[in-house]
Amino acid sequence: MAIFDIDLDTLRQRTSMKWTRFAPDVLPMWVAEMDVVPSPGVTRALQHAVEIGDLGYPGYESLPRAFRAFAADTWGLSLTQRQVMPCADVVSGMAVLVEAFTDPGSSIVVNPPIYPPFRSSGGVGGRALVEAAMTPEGRLDLEALAEAFALPEVTGYLLCNPHNPHGTVHTADELAAVAQLARQHQVLVISDEIHGALVAPGVTFTSYLAVPGSESGFVVTSASKAFNLAALKAGLLIAGSELVDALWQLPYEVRAGSSHLGLLLQAAGLDEDRDWLAQLNAEIAANKVLLASLLPEVGLSYTPSDGTYLAWVDAAPLGFEDAATSLRERGKVAFNPGTDYAASHGQWIRINLATSPEIIREAVRRIGHARA
Ligand SMILES: Cc1ncc(COP(=O)(O)O)c(C=O)c1O
Repeated sequence: MAIFDIDLDTLRQRTSMKWTRFAPDVLPMWVAEMDVVPSPGVTRALQHAVEIGDLGYPGYESLPRAFRAFAADTWGLSLTQRQVMPCADVVSGMAVLVEAFTDPGSSIVVNPPIYPPFRSSGGVGGRALVEAAMTPEGRLDLEALAEAFALPEVTGYLLCNPHNPHGTVHTADELAAVAQLARQHQVLVISDEIHGALVAPGVTFTSYLAVPGSESGFVVTSASKAFNLAALKAGLLIAGSELVDALWQLPYEVRAGSSHLGLLLQAAGLDEDRDWLAQLNAEIAANKVLLASLLPEVGLSYTPSDGTYLAWVDAAPLGFEDAATSLRERGKVAFNPGTDYAASHGQWIRINLATSPEIIREAVRRIGHARA
């Protein structure tokens, strides 16, 4: 049975953000929640925790241990125990690092179009943002980054690896170039790798901490995206080898923001559900191919990306100023508006493809109705 084989009536019983933000006649294809039931190991771990009343304060060790094993087995990335510390979630973890390790009044570099909370995390504590836009092909613009890093006020850089919204998986060469620039200009790199486990079959994900020169950077990550566990708070701060002591100087509250069940269930997924994850990635890749084959029927186009379950689509051919609002009002289908990712991208939409092929077909039909 397909992982995304889940019907709309069941989904509509959900009370999470995706299913309650808009009226019931709107098909929600926006926020990054997946239309899946929990993976088998996660389900067993949750049932067991409830059966034995394992609902106390976090033990803290489960997720760091499971993530280190997963990173070693999957990416050949070896991390020591002291490099990895729990935190509440990725967005607040990035803000904690910016606040703790960059100067107040300095500036932080981001790459628009970019997942919106990068602006709030980077701008934390009054830091200004410097934009080094992605290239038109959706890749890191290393020249723009070099220029931005050379600015005297720049002290930090929030990297999205893989990149949301494009789904670009950065190469080891690109990341090594970033690390070299960061060293040269003494810029702290904070790499958000929450989508790292969500790459198409055959595609290699490279963690920032795997490339030479990255020893003075951080990764912030979580298995909540891969196993759809945003309901239960847990994430990880991972320090490059030169920052391990600095990591453990962060206040205890940082760890205490994680929940016991969040840590436990993400660990169960990483330990026990790797086959499920492989199938999930295959189904996401197939959904991207399906979207690419359907969009020309409504005058749009899309090239499948290597990472994430998100599709970044130029909806300008539809002729709407604000594509997402018009599609929602006229077609009853909700996508994330491009302006959330870059002010200039009102005609773009981000489509969440972590759903059934039938729902993707229905979404494209609704784009067609909106256009008519
Ligand atoms: C790139 C990226 N970072 C962070 C998050 C949110 O992570 P968290 O819920 O752990 O704060 C998302 C959610 O979609 C995301 O796409």
